Amino acid sequence: MKVGFIGCGNLGGSLIKGLLNAGALRAEELVASDVSDEKLGELGKFGIETTTDSKKLVEHCDVIFIAVKPDVVESVLEETKEFSKGKLFVSVAAGVSTKFIEARTRGRVIRVMPNICGLVGEMASCFSLGTRASKEDEELIEKLLAAMGMTFKVDEKLMNVVTGLSGSGPAYFYFIVQALQEAGVELGLSSEIALKLAAQTAKGAGEVILREGKTLEELTGMVCTPKGTTIEGIKVLEERKVADALRDAVKAAARRAKELSR
Ligand SMILES: NC(=O)c1ccc[n+]([C@@H]2O[C@H](COP(=O)([O-])OP(=O)(O)OC[C@H]3O[C@@H](n4cnc5c(N)ncnc54)[C@H](OP(=O)(O)O)[C@@H]3O)[C@@H](O)[C@H]2O)c1
Repeated sequence: MKVGFIGCGNLGGSLIKGLLNAGALRAEELVASDVSDEKLGELGKFGIETTTDSKKLVEHCDVIFIAVKPDVVESVLEETKEFSKGKLFVSVAAGVSTKFIEARTRGRVIRVMPNICGLVGEMASCFSLGTRASKEDEELIEKLLAAMGMTFKVDEKLMNVVTGLSGSGPAYFYFIVQALQEAGVELGLSSEIALKLAAQTAKGAGEVILREGKTLEELTGMVCTPKGTTIEGIKVLEERKVADALRDAVKAAARRAKELSR
């Protein structure tokens, strides 16, 4: 099986590296296409075949990930249509529907909303099948996505929500970790130690949620004892309405995904 990537920027590049790191695909099974020689040069170092000719890539691949910006998807589909019959197209473009893609290709289509954490095998993703996708296509994409983390099949109408939550989500956590780091530095820690403490705490807290099977209230209670230290921090978060701000952030990103929808 040959798997091609059209668009090898932040997301496409992270998926390629994630699939290689996970051992889900070998370098010989991958082909990367981009308009940027610099990005292709970096991927070429992994032994992957690279090209600037997306038409050729589609001709020679069985599965094609489309990882260009949403407004470039249409031109990529037009350019590659003549070789699209019998191929599986996997689009990661925010807001671009399977219907839009199916109307512009002869291939089968699956829409995925991943995030960049596939790079380290910790991706959260969702996928939706287009009308022509088969059971085998579903099994294949589920296997590839699961190799890089956690994946769920969802109704396509929820894809904009997934985009606002987990697609954009890594940036929310970077934002929070940066604020925690800055506070640590202001209080005397080195920048490096403060960053690592904040990042490891985010990672550990997430792992505990996923592995312990306790509710968030129970877990908060394990850290936050009455008259203790944590409750003082939580009080500030509540007073400043941080929960409202985070909810609004997800809604704003989901709204933007809807605006981009085609
Ligand atoms: N970044 C994320 O965290 C994230 C998460 C979920 C989904 N996505 C989705 O992933 C897609 C890519 O996002 P990104 O952040 O990876 O963007 P990006 O970093 O700009 O990557 C897109 C790449 O495609 C290249 N490109 C442009 N036109 C092309 C063409 N006709 N053929 C081949 N390559 C072409 C771009 O080159 P130039 O830069 O030279 O134009 C760039 O290297 C988007 O649709 C986005 O909605 C991204």
